[in-house]
Amino acid sequence: MKNVLIIFGGNSSEHDVSCKSAKSIAENIDQSLFSYEMVGITRDNQWYQYQDDLKYLEKGTWLEGKKIEIIHPINFLKQFDVVFPIIHGTNGEDGKLQGMMELFNIPFVGCKTLSSAIGMDKEISKIMFDSINISQVPYLVIDEDFEINEIIQKIEFPMIIKPANGGSSIGISKAETKEELEQAILEAKKYDHKIIIEKFIHCRELECAVLEKDQQLICSSPGEVIASNEFYDYDAKYINQKSITKIPTDLPIEIVDKIKENAKIVFKRLQCRGYARVDFFYDSKEQKIYINEINTIPGFTSISMYPTLIENEHISYQELITILIENAL
Ligand SMILES: Nc1ncnc2c1ncn2[C@@H]1O[C@H](COP(=O)(O)OP(=O)(O)OP(=O)(O)O)[C@@H](O)[C@H]1O
Ligand SMILES: [Mg+2]
Repeated sequence: MKNVLIIFGGNSSEHDVSCKSAKSIAENIDQSLFSYEMVGITRDNQWYQYQDDLKYLEKGTWLEGKKIEIIHPINFLKQFDVVFPIIHGTNGEDGKLQGMMELFNIPFVGCKTLSSAIGMDKEISKIMFDSINISQVPYLVIDEDFEINEIIQKIEFPMIIKPANGGSSIGISKAETKEELEQAILEAKKYDHKIIIEKFIHCRELECAVLEKDQQLICSSPGEVIASNEFYDYDAKYINQKSITKIPTDLPIEIVDKIKENAKIVFKRLQCRGYARVDFFYDSKEQKIYINEINTIPGFTSISMYPTLIENEHISYQELITILIENAL
């Protein structure tokens, strides 16, 4: 019986989502094959061995549960056969945790340091997508020095403005005028000095799950997100509960195949391992596919997009967890 350590929480904006993903894994892990323990990381980077009821993870109150502080995280991690990190966003998905585990030879689920770091930084991933000829919407990157008129000359309105390192649509806004653009840049700057500006396109949003199984890549048919707001902003993602996901989609088979092929290329060329969700836009008027981004630790509750896409490929959530752990071993 292999002993698995599930790590959740962290200091990113996606802390609560991580707790829910971890709870789902703990509830569904095949206990005839694996035993498990859990570690929670607080928003200020304290590590605790979590020993209480899983229900507190759902409620976001795990810190009130029974727990033991971990003084030496690396020594603690080394006691396990494999770590399943399920921290989304900063410090969990950006290669830092992965780097630490690689350095100390601790086997872990999912992408290694390099692909995690590339996937997290929207500028660097865009450079990678360009270099392997995967289409993207027109974009530019600005840092401390920029000329607002130059942006307007280069990208047409409407635009969408994003912090380069972020998540959950936090700090992202749409701009239709120069004034709105200035406001949107100020908003994005709260989260990162580096800002991505893209042409805002009216499109369908499609997400594809890639999974390594028996050294082969399984690529799911895409699922569609129908956002309840003008775009899939924070409110549409987590608050108003009116967004819909559609699996499978009604897309023509050529489009489905093209998206799957692109997802596989991106997974391979970014040297991903285990799993990743690759997100696309489809402009049905122009019949064009654009990549949006790659997520190396996608939302992972039993009803999240990634597990649901894999389930649609006839791999149950429990089987998916087993495959990911066995890959890492
Ligand atoms: N160029 C674009 N045109 C139209 N809508 C866009 C464009 N880029 C992003 N969006 C909308 O904004 C949402 C959030 O953008 P994006 O996925 O890049 O950031 P994020 O969700 O914060 O990143 P992460 O998924 O890593 O948390 C998308 O799901 C989509 O609805
Ligand atoms: Mg996204």
